[in-house]
Amino acid sequence: MMNIAVLVSGRGSNLQAIIDNIDNGYLRAKVTVVISDVEDAYALDRAKKHGIEAVYIGHGNFAKKELYEEEIITVLEKHNVDLILLAGYMRIVGYTLLSAYRNRILNIHPSLLPSFPGLHAQEQAFRYGVKVAGCTVHFVDETLDSGPVILQRCVEVREEDTAETLAGRILEQEHMIYPEAVKLVVEDRLRIEGRKVRIIN
Ligand code: GRF
Repeated sequence: MMNIAVLVSGRGSNLQAIIDNIDNGYLRAKVTVVISDVEDAYALDRAKKHGIEAVYIGHGNFAKKELYEEEIITVLEKHNVDLILLAGYMRIVGYTLLSAYRNRILNIHPSLLPSFPGLHAQEQAFRYGVKVAGCTVHFVDETLDSGPVILQRCVEVREEDTAETLAGRILEQEHMIYPEAVKLVVEDRLRIEGRKVRIIN
């Protein structure tokens, strides 16, 4: 069984989607630890409610990013983690963590990448006036919101939408494609070929 760590900074609704899909049998995996860089992140409470180890590691307590990530790695190793999911984790993953878990870190982003990377992606898309928005699950590499794309889902922008209503419908899709992408990893059905991720049957 694959052991998963989820890295969070906030409310943790994507973490919840992963937990729920493990509980209902869709995903054969285990979340062994949730790590937050924000002490009062609601995601930590969600983890505890499900009996999952919840760990706060404050970036500010370390002199260098390298040391901060080494502490994260210590916790990951203690929990025998095979796969890391970023779920609203608001830091850029550095070389230390990336090189320890190469091609074993996934992220979910609320836009159709490579459009609208960075913060407030849904609002960026809404203001730009796109007719189709969406979300992306991708492997994490050294560039922000880059890395080979695993799954994407479209969300149509409606005339009556606000940035908030659009973000809400994108989030519903996030909660579906993140577990789907994790299932593909768990079942060893992904092959990274350059920028492309091939899904095998
Ligand atoms: C989501 O929109 C995700 O795509 C982005 O940050 C948000 C996290 O939400 N990376 P939550 O903490 O999972 O509820």
